[in-house]
Amino acid sequence: MFNPEQIEKFKRLKTPFYYYDISLLQKTIDELKKEADKRNYQIHYAVKANANEGILQIINDNGFGADCVSGNEVSKSIEVGFDSNKIVFAGVGKSDEEIKTGLQHEIFCFNVESIQEIEVINSIAGSMNKTAPIALRINPNINPKTHHYITTGLEENKFGINFDDFDQILGKISSYKNLVLTGLHFHIGSQVTDLEVYKSLCIRINELQKWFVDHNIEIKHLNAGGGLGVNYENPDENLIPDFKSFFRVFEQFLELQPDQILHFEIGRAVVAQCGSLISKVLFIKEGLNTNFAILDAGMTELLRPALYQAYHKIENLTSIGKEKRYDVVGPICESSDTFAKSYILPETKRGDLISLRSTGAYGEVMASHYNLRSAIQSYFSDQL
Ligand code: LLP
Repeated sequence: MFNPEQIEKFKRLKTPFYYYDISLLQKTIDELKKEADKRNYQIHYAVKANANEGILQIINDNGFGADCVSGNEVSKSIEVGFDSNKIVFAGVGKSDEEIKTGLQHEIFCFNVESIQEIEVINSIAGSMNKTAPIALRINPNINPKTHHYITTGLEENKFGINFDDFDQILGKISSYKNLVLTGLHFHIGSQVTDLEVYKSLCIRINELQKWFVDHNIEIKHLNAGGGLGVNYENPDENLIPDFKSFFRVFEQFLELQPDQILHFEIGRAVVAQCGSLISKVLFIKEGLNTNFAILDAGMTELLRPALYQAYHKIENLTSIGKEKRYDVVGPICESSDTFAKSYILPETKRGDLISLRSTGAYGEVMASHYNLRSAIQSYFSDQL
């Protein structure tokens, strides 16, 4: 994916670093916007996927809203210029301070996840003389067929409210003076590649909507969350995710009420493919059964492989030649600091540049300082 000119530029930079292809990001945003606008779907970019300020700016410039999961994400989004009226705030454990931040900025909606949270938001909103718009996050109990660590919509997960509690909740909400129920929220998981799963979600939402209609409760917006997956195995075959097919499932199977607006919170599909982690080979170590390519990037810069056994395509940017198998590992004192086992690369040597592809989502943002590692730089293609 990288041309010789780019690789020459990489050679002059201190590794490891994140590299973002801004033209690809813009094309991805254009496609998402085109398909969403056609259907009047409202997009909130899931800030958790990548909160790099430059990336946030580009996304805001294109008019999307923000999906936040902490008070700091709300503040950061406002700082970057996102319209507070397009900010949704989710999360199972919002602190009082974070709730106040959302109320101060008069955000579009709090996605609430428990009965107690509803009580607390009502009381804080009361003390601030505000009315909090809320969407109930419903646990639809749908299996997204993805890694169990990133499954969120099953009854066993900590997220959302179970439908059985609804009678009780609605009784309460009507007595709360500082809340207004505006929406229903769903999110079933991340890196979802089987679109049938979204069909099941639509059918489930239709059933639930019926209950609200029968109870004469107007729901102004539905939020179907995010989760659309990307092609990690062959990124160059699908640099831009198939937003069209994704939205068509909702268009076909979701029965919106008159004037009801459908919202989405998309993270990974917007930013994953535009990012690469560029690293250098420190050492080649011949093991008993395997060879290790030891990189200067590790789980502190890219946690996904250690945490979810996630696959990222690895490329040697500076050597070609006979192929060999390597365990590609980082320098951190943990055996789980392994990017890939028995991975085929051209014969690799100390000083080679290595790219870990599709790392624009949940890469830089999940970095840590473990082993007292320093934060790394990020570069944008249009500024290099
Ligand atoms: N909305 C809610 C309520 C979420 O929990 C998430 C992701 C999203 C939207 C955005 O989902 P996306 O479109 O990015 O799939 N660190 C993991 C992924 C965790 C996802 C958490 N929630 C990973 O590296 O795969």
